[in-house]
Amino acid sequence: MCGIVGILGNEPVAGKLVDALKRLEYRGYDSSGVATIEEGQLDRRRAEGKLHNLETRLSNEPLRGRLGIGHTRWATHGAPTETNAHPHMTERVSIVHNGIIENFKQLRRELESEGAELVTDTDTEVIAHLVTREMDAGHDPAIAVLHTLRMLEGAFALAFIFKDHDDLMIAARQGSPLAVGFGDGEMYLGSDAIALAPFTDTITYLEDGDWAVLTRDGVAIRDSEGAAVDRPVQKSVASALMVDKGNHRHFMAKEIHEQPEVVGHTLASYIDFANLKVQMPDMPFDFASLQRISISACGTAYYAGLIAKYWFEKLARLPVEIDVASEFRYRNVPLEAGGLSLFISQSGETADTLAAMRYCREQEQHIASIVNVRESSIARDSDVVLPTLAGPEIGVASTKAFTCQLAVLACIAVSAARARGTMSEETEAEFVTALSEVPRHMSAILREEGLYDSLAHSLAKASDVLYLGRGVNYPVALEGALKLKEISYIHAEGYAAGELKHGPIALIDESVPVVVVAPRDEMFEKMVSNVQEAAARGGRIVFLSDAEESDVGCDVMTSLKIPQIHNFTTPLIYALPMQLIAYHTAVFMGTDVDQPRNLAKSVTVE
Ligand code: G6P
Repeated sequence: MCGIVGILGNEPVAGKLVDALKRLEYRGYDSSGVATIEEGQLDRRRAEGKLHNLETRLSNEPLRGRLGIGHTRWATHGAPTETNAHPHMTERVSIVHNGIIENFKQLRRELESEGAELVTDTDTEVIAHLVTREMDAGHDPAIAVLHTLRMLEGAFALAFIFKDHDDLMIAARQGSPLAVGFGDGEMYLGSDAIALAPFTDTITYLEDGDWAVLTRDGVAIRDSEGAAVDRPVQKSVASALMVDKGNHRHFMAKEIHEQPEVVGHTLASYIDFANLKVQMPDMPFDFASLQRISISACGTAYYAGLIAKYWFEKLARLPVEIDVASEFRYRNVPLEAGGLSLFISQSGETADTLAAMRYCREQEQHIASIVNVRESSIARDSDVVLPTLAGPEIGVASTKAFTCQLAVLACIAVSAARARGTMSEETEAEFVTALSEVPRHMSAILREEGLYDSLAHSLAKASDVLYLGRGVNYPVALEGALKLKEISYIHAEGYAAGELKHGPIALIDESVPVVVVAPRDEMFEKMVSNVQEAAARGGRIVFLSDAEESDVGCDVMTSLKIPQIHNFTTPLIYALPMQLIAYHTAVFMGTDVDQPRNLAKSVTVE
């Protein structure tokens, strides 16, 4: 699960390769490397850790080749050491790989029995040796690669450069995205169009099974059968501007603070505020005749889907089947042809979500997706794309993408309810009004950010934190716990408050903070009982509510007053305190907030 890039340029390319890799760091950042060809010779520089280590390496030992490949890694096979960093290389070929080669052990045994010396723990290295074996047998690079591809099982996006070939790069795609960029006498290759945005906006995407031969004059693409194919050339809208942190210390802080604006934009694109109506794009299905919706997503996007399940079922009386995509894709879920499958993804590249989508396509479902990256694989493969207008999200822990996903889902739920006759025009107007107030309430929470700073000091001492919620705010508690563990590394669990007595209450003592998401809704009194149960065991209660602290009837460690809002929109608003708690705790603890250890922004392997 990595980012790859390639450039056939007319001047030294190492600097440009690193620039492109910076845009791909969302795919992994535990080591990186570049390889170029200079006077026919392959040479590479690699470094453990963040990209600036590679930059330092290159400034001490520059590479001057005008053709090269680069890689930023999220380790799957082998520790994130320099030896395991890409590009991998033999005398004849250097390669970068995104994906997993599932049969690498068998291939490695075969190569070793023939005398090859493999020096890394990676699955990728076998590919370099297989190509070398083919070239040693007299095949030219293209045939050597083609023979090698036929031996590989798994998912991959690959780029190859070859000794003594100053104007040749070969690329291949099977399951992992790959874009080819066209320049003026130069050609480019990248895991996505954003990586290539500073160099070109003219892009073509390889399809699964495609392999491509690039020279500075252009590209020849062949499909898995070896037949020449034309893939559409498109104008990319990916921005060349590198996003910066503005006045914020971290991207995550900036993204948290952007929420009133980007959620407002997202809502505005699905709502006719003048007439207080939801306005969805044309859909190739009718909500009124749907029997159910299936939703698949991963991580934070999955929690957005879980919240939507409450909305669809309650407001539109539409049953929802929801699962994390990694489970859904293998469950062989029975789906009626003509049903609706909905996929939620910030990046639009998450491998499991893409696989779940392919399964639903085979089951003849209508495919709708909520994505933030419009040129992503998920967006391109959907029948209907419902974009979130969050803008680029750089912090690995998702924040603004999540609330924008909720904004879109809230609009779809209202639209479905209207279509199914379960919501009146007046109620639609009431709900739309509530949504229109969300940005203002978000701003009010952000103005009180100082409160979270002091709470962080006490949370930082905890080794476990429980998050409780009920109903539509149960997934908000799950998301709060996920945020905290992702970036502060404190163990945290979200629970449906009603489940407290079935296990987690055993964990509670004076050392365990219990964060309670308790808007004054129809669940409020039940939440209060659960809070009292936790407090009676010594739990240190962090109470988030529009109700008064005095309404709880027991001691609370911290009470955070949340604005009084319509019950429909509570998940959108309570998401912000969840983010602020995690952010300030992580900052206090001094972790790498934007690039937490072991994680990646986009998980492109299963
Ligand atoms: C990773 C990210 C999460 C994200 C999840 C799903 O785990 O760290 O923030 O929620 O992937 O990603 P997607 O791009 O599909 O929303």
